[in-house]
Amino acid sequence: MSSGNMEEEQQLEEPLFILENGEVYRNPTEVKMSQIVLPCHANHCAELSVGQLLKWMDSTACLSAERHAGCSCITASMDDIHFEHTIGVGQVVNIQAKLNRAFNSSMEVGILVSCEDLFSERQWKVCNAFATFVARRTDSGKVQLKQILPRTQDEQMEYSIAAERRRMRLIHADIMKDLLSNGPVSRVGECQEYQNAVPAEKTRVESVELVLPPHANHQVNTFGGQIMAWMENVATIAASRLCNAHPTLRTIDMFHFRGPSQVGDRVILRAIVNNTFKNSMEVGVRAEAYRGREPLRHINSAFMTFEVLDEDKKPRTLPRIRPEPVDGMRRYREAIARKKIRLDRKYIISCKQTEVPLSVPWDPSNQVYLSYNNVSALKMLAAKNNWVLSSEENKVSLYTLEENQFLSFRVEMKVDVPAERVFILLSDLSRRQEWDSHYKQCDVINQVDEDDVIYRVVTPSVSKDSKFQDFVLLASRRQPCDKGDPYVIALRSVTLPTHTATSDCNRGEVLCAGFTIWEESKTITKISYYNQATPGVMPYISTDIAGLSSRFYSTFCACSKFLEENKDGSPAVQSAAL
Ligand code: COA
Ligand code: ADP
Repeated sequence: MSSGNMEEEQQLEEPLFILENGEVYRNPTEVKMSQIVLPCHANHCAELSVGQLLKWMDSTACLSAERHAGCSCITASMDDIHFEHTIGVGQVVNIQAKLNRAFNSSMEVGILVSCEDLFSERQWKVCNAFATFVARRTDSGKVQLKQILPRTQDEQMEYSIAAERRRMRLIHADIMKDLLSNGPVSRVGECQEYQNAVPAEKTRVESVELVLPPHANHQVNTFGGQIMAWMENVATIAASRLCNAHPTLRTIDMFHFRGPSQVGDRVILRAIVNNTFKNSMEVGVRAEAYRGREPLRHINSAFMTFEVLDEDKKPRTLPRIRPEPVDGMRRYREAIARKKIRLDRKYIISCKQTEVPLSVPWDPSNQVYLSYNNVSALKMLAAKNNWVLSSEENKVSLYTLEENQFLSFRVEMKVDVPAERVFILLSDLSRRQEWDSHYKQCDVINQVDEDDVIYRVVTPSVSKDSKFQDFVLLASRRQPCDKGDPYVIALRSVTLPTHTATSDCNRGEVLCAGFTIWEESKTITKISYYNQATPGVMPYISTDIAGLSSRFYSTFCACSKFLEENKDGSPAVQSAAL
C-alpha cells in the first residue's frame, strides 16, 4: 500500500466561514461519509477496492445532489479521476461532497476523498472528482432546478468554473471522436511485432450481472456507482491476465451513463487490454444491458489505466501486447492517441497554475483543454476576494492582488453600452488598436472555432534595446451560462511551431489576462480588465500602481469612447465575423 507522507498531507477541511451575524456557515448541500475499510471492502492486497470506493463516492454525491434538488437524481457522468494513493484495511475513508452548481435539470457535485490513519491522526488526499447528476424527469417533463447561492470564495470559484467544466463535458464525446478520426491517431504507425508480446485475446473478459434490488435505488434504477464498480472489476481481471500479477488502477477516463438500467436487467461487461506502454496499460470496458429477448442496450464504455508495482512500489515494465486484427488494431492505435490526450489534460487541467509554464504548446488535440484552462484561470482570478483598491480616477478603478509570487491588477469601469455589444467589440482583438496605443499590430493566426482565436500581437518594447515585443495569444470568449454570469474574454500565451520567436522581436508572455463583462442594466455595463503581470507586462503598469502615473486611466477612457462610438453596430454581423 502506498500512503501519503508528511509533506503530502494537506489541509483537507475548508476553513470555517463566519457570517456577518457571527454564525458559522456550512454549505447546505454538503454531505460527508466516513467508512472504516474492512476486509470485505478490500482486495487480496488488503487495499480498498476502487469499485467499492466508486460506490461510496457515487452515493455521497447523489445525496448531495438530492439534498438540493429535493427529488430523486441519477448519475449522468463522472469526470476523469486520478488516484493518488491506495487505502489500506483498517484505515478510514472520508468522502465529502457538495454541489458546485445547478444548471437546468443537471447539477455538478464536487467530491473529495481522503484517507485517515486512526493511529497517527494523519490525513491525506486520495482523489477528487466531479460528478453530474440529473433530477429525474417527472410526468410533467424535465425538472427546472433552483440555483445555488455560492457564499465563500472557494464556492464562488467552483461555481464559476463549473460552467466551463460542463461545456467541456458536453462536447467530450464529439471531441474524442474527432481527435480519434483526424488527430494524433491518424499519425500512429502500424503496430510492431515484439518478441514475447502477449496476445490481446488472453486478457479478454466477459461477465454478466443480474441487477437486484440492493444494486438499485428506491426508484429501481441501478446505481451509477454499482455499474462503475462492475466495470472496474472486469477491467482489473483483464489487466491481471496480461501480467499475471495484481495491478493498481491509476486513472479512469470520464464515465458517461448513456442510458439507465433497472432491477431485473442483465448487465454484460466486456473488457480487454487495448495497449500497453512501458509502465502502464489501457484497459477498455463496455457495459450493455438487456432484459429477456430484448436487444442489448449500450449503457457505458470506459477506459482505465493500470500499473503493476514491484516490491519497492515502483511501476514494473510491462510486456507488449499483440492486438487482434481489425477492431483490436484500431483500439491499439486509439489507446496511443488517448494516452496523449490524457497527458495533455492532466498537464493542462490538473496542474496548479504556478506549475504550468507561461506558454503552452497549442495543437488541435489539446485545444479544448487549453481553452478550458484559459477561461478557468481568469474566472479564478476574478473570484478572488482580496483585491485592494490601488487608485481611482473618475470612476475608473485600479485594483491589485499579490499572491503566489504574482502581482495581478484589475481595472474596472462602467460604460453606457449594452453588455453583449461590449463583448462583441472587445472580443475582436484586432480592433484593440483602435483604443489601446500599446497594440501596434494584431493579426489572426488561427480561427480555431467560433469562440477561440489565436492572434499575434505586436507592442512597443518595454526594455531599452528598442526591439518590438510580440505575443502569441489564445483568446477564448464565453457567453454567460446563466442570467447572473458575466461575459468572459480570456487571454493566455501559447506556442505554435509556425510562429516561433524571431530576432527582430522579443517574445513576451501572458499568463492570464482578459475581461469580465457584467450586465448592470439593459444599457449600463461593468467591465473589468484583469492581468496577472509577468515581467514583460510589469513596466506598463508599475508606475500606475505606484501612483506615479495614470496611463491606465487614459487607456480605459479611450476604450470607453471606442465602445460608445461603436455601440450601434449590428451584433449578428459582428459576431459572425469573429
Ligand atoms: N455529462 C454531464 N451532463 C450531461 C451529459 C454528460 N455526458 N449528457 C447530458 N447531460 C445533461 C444535459 O446537459 C442536461 O442538463 P441540463 O438540463 O442542466 O441542461 C441533462 O443531462 C438532461 O439532458 P437531456 O438532453 O434532457 O437528456 P438526455 O437525453 O441527454 O439524457 C441522461 C441525459 C443523463 C438523463 C440520460 O443519458 C440517462 O438517463 N442516462 C442514464 C443515467 C442513469 O441511469 N445513471 C445511473 C447508472 S445506470
Ligand atoms: P471502442 O471499440 O471504440 O473502443 P466500445 O464502446 O465498443 O468502443 O468499447 C469500449 C472498450 O471496451 C473497447 O475499447 C474494448 O477495450 C472493450 N470491449 C469492447 N467490446 C469488447 C469485447 N467484445 N470483448 C472484450 N472487450 C471489449
